[in-house]
Amino acid sequence: MLRTIPVKLKKNSYEIKIGHSYFKEIPKYIKPLDLGNYGIVIVSSKVYNLYKNLIQSTFKTKDFKIIKVINGEKLKSQKWLFNVINEIVQTDTWSRRVFILCLGGGTVGDLGGFIASIYKRGIPYVHIPTTLLAQIDASIGGKTAIDLNEAKNILGAFYQPKTVIIDTQFLATLPKKELKQGLAEAIKYGLIIDKDFFHFLKENHKKIWELDPASISNLIYTCAKIKAKIVEKDEKETKGLRTILNFGHTLGHALESSLKYNKISHGEAVAIGMIFAAKLSYFLKKCDKKVVDDVIEIIKLFKIPTNIKYDYISLYKSLTYDKKFISGKIRMVLIKKIGEVEVVEGISPQIIKKTLKSFSD
Ligand SMILES: NC(=O)c1ccc[n+]([C@@H]2O[C@H](COP(=O)([O-])OP(=O)(O)OC[C@H]3O[C@@H](n4cnc5c(N)ncnc54)[C@H](O)[C@@H]3O)[C@@H](O)[C@H]2O)c1
Ligand SMILES: [Zn+2]
Repeated sequence: MLRTIPVKLKKNSYEIKIGHSYFKEIPKYIKPLDLGNYGIVIVSSKVYNLYKNLIQSTFKTKDFKIIKVINGEKLKSQKWLFNVINEIVQTDTWSRRVFILCLGGGTVGDLGGFIASIYKRGIPYVHIPTTLLAQIDASIGGKTAIDLNEAKNILGAFYQPKTVIIDTQFLATLPKKELKQGLAEAIKYGLIIDKDFFHFLKENHKKIWELDPASISNLIYTCAKIKAKIVEKDEKETKGLRTILNFGHTLGHALESSLKYNKISHGEAVAIGMIFAAKLSYFLKKCDKKVVDDVIEIIKLFKIPTNIKYDYISLYKSLTYDKKFISGKIRMVLIKKIGEVEVVEGISPQIIKKTLKSFSD
């Protein structure tokens, strides 16, 4: 059974489809969208090697070209941007109307979407996310980007896909370490906006961990819907509504960048960031102590670390450099109760330092 989530935007509305083992039907699903007559499939080499027969037989006609790219964050670089663009140019003849299919994790989606946004001033593209993180987060919302040495995601555009096709069969080969990346974001959705979903996660953590089809489908459907609704209200992040998606990310990003992105994964950093935000909320009397305990408990249930050995106080400086800290004023997404958050400005440095210190105690 396919489930559909509409993403209703002022211009360029589209649908997210969620199902299991329907990859082969993709050419049939995209045909009515009339995206073009030549599909460039950008696929990470790991996904290609794992699903070679399926990918080759689905995109077997002369109307598709498969471009294999490297795995991981290094893909989001100037080098790969131009590698892929040059390959596209080579095949782009006058009779072809080219469109892009991004098949892989968030890195493939971010690069492919960015190329789609700039190639010939914009061509259509489709996301076919294969990691849990990409299925519930990165493929929804139209943010595309590559990294420069100076900063992550610094070169990019808001550019919406024509459709998002989520096939849960891919999760079977996803390493548990990568699964956790998505689970951390799923926990975030529960905490910021959906108490029932938080309880669903708690009650079904074993089934989710074992990829029980019904539980996974529910999880992806709920998260994708939450993100789609937020994006609908604030497509280009101009109204501050998308800000709540940064819950846990302020400290998370500071941790990731001070550890040079190699000693901690994004999901682990966000998990610790969510505990930081909950503790800070408690110290500021925004929530009860029980909320902090609930946040820690759910993170533990999904086998994500709740702390790492680190000199947390040293993070204070990088925290105040974060782009979410507007002109020196400390601004953060805080939690009031499970499923409800608030953006708070002007938090005192003393409380921030006290909260950081509590991680080293
Ligand atoms: N655009 C957005 O709104 C947005 C939101 C969140 C994150 N992101 C970006 O997403 C990226 C992270 O995405 P990610 O976590 O998917 O990482 P990723 O794309 O690096 O994928 C993780 C690893 O899993 C492999 N993989 C992918 N699918 C697999 C499968 N089905 N089976 C086995 N292995 C598989 C990949 O080859 C890679 O090695 C970051 O660059 C981040 O900035 C973007
Ligand atoms: Zn994140």
